[in-house]
Amino acid sequence: MTADIKTPFIIEKIKESKLPKADFSNLVFGQMFSDHMLVADFFDGKWQTPKIMPYQALPYEPSAKVFHYGQAVFEGMKAYKDSKGNVFLFRPEENFNRMNNSAERLGMPAIPKDIFMNGIKELVKMDKDWIPTGNGESLYIRPVYIATENAVAASPSNAYRFMVMTSPAGKYYVGDVKVKVEDKYSRACDGGVGYAKAAGNYAAQFYPTEKAKEEGFQQIIWTDSAEHKYLEEAGTMNIFFRIGDKLLTAPTIPDSTRILPGVTRKSIIKLAQDNGVPVEVRPIEVKEVIEAAKNGELKEIFGAGTAATVLPITGIKYKDFYTDLKKPADSYADRFKNMLMDIQYNRAEDPYGWRYPVQ
Ligand code: COI
Repeated sequence: MTADIKTPFIIEKIKESKLPKADFSNLVFGQMFSDHMLVADFFDGKWQTPKIMPYQALPYEPSAKVFHYGQAVFEGMKAYKDSKGNVFLFRPEENFNRMNNSAERLGMPAIPKDIFMNGIKELVKMDKDWIPTGNGESLYIRPVYIATENAVAASPSNAYRFMVMTSPAGKYYVGDVKVKVEDKYSRACDGGVGYAKAAGNYAAQFYPTEKAKEEGFQQIIWTDSAEHKYLEEAGTMNIFFRIGDKLLTAPTIPDSTRILPGVTRKSIIKLAQDNGVPVEVRPIEVKEVIEAAKNGELKEIFGAGTAATVLPITGIKYKDFYTDLKKPADSYADRFKNMLMDIQYNRAEDPYGWRYPVQ
């Protein structure tokens, strides 16, 4: 137990840190995990004492409900270290709220705020030496929440586990990212789980995305399932379109139940609005963007997500149309990425209170 944790957490430290053997020279996203993980179980109708313990494999039976019915939601967050070694999270309450919104949609009990916030804070504090400090590097934090009851009836589980692992991370995307506008498969539909960070949403994207990759496109921009008429999100990122000097992005909940309400997306909208860039959050027709591309008004497209940060898209295909996208000299992607990272890495004032110190 440590002083600033409210819930009594059980803490079991690793006997020998893996850090001296860890190779930080070529970080591949999500492949190396730090010494500890946070675990909190829910059973007998209540949350049990959470534990921080060495990162390890899980002891589940094949009948655990998560394997059958996919009651699984997750989050993506990052811890950043400034030049003096201070550590910060970025808007963690947004992730807490979104995780519980996702959990509610999948019929899972809410995670107590104390377990989520203080557990992650303590975990990051214990493994702070795992936070890489190279340009754009951070400690990726992956909370995941699964159904653990051993029973194969198709009904909500009566037992769950919330876990958090952390992973030193550099870039998520390496190389060019060209996108294909999908007009056959769908990621989400009205009233479905598209707005939730449900594990199954990602599984549903893999097959169409692999097909797009075979055609030379690293990501898909999903369109609405009803008509394939409106541009939605890219699955691992929300998407922004710059037409002329205006920034356009699709609406999220409550206006659309199909799109993940990204924390990076929300932050970029705020930065743009406060810096004199007109932002339109509204349904965006594929036709409008393709016409803008044809008449030279489409200046840039970029993705926004925790793992991806802000990612310029270098080409877009829709049916038989394709165009390369060259980053303009006054790129909004660069401008807002720098502003965001300056806040995240404590290189600039944080007028919004987005930085959350871990101390
Ligand atoms: C994130 O950006 O944190 C996500 O969860 C997306 C994931 C596909 C890496």
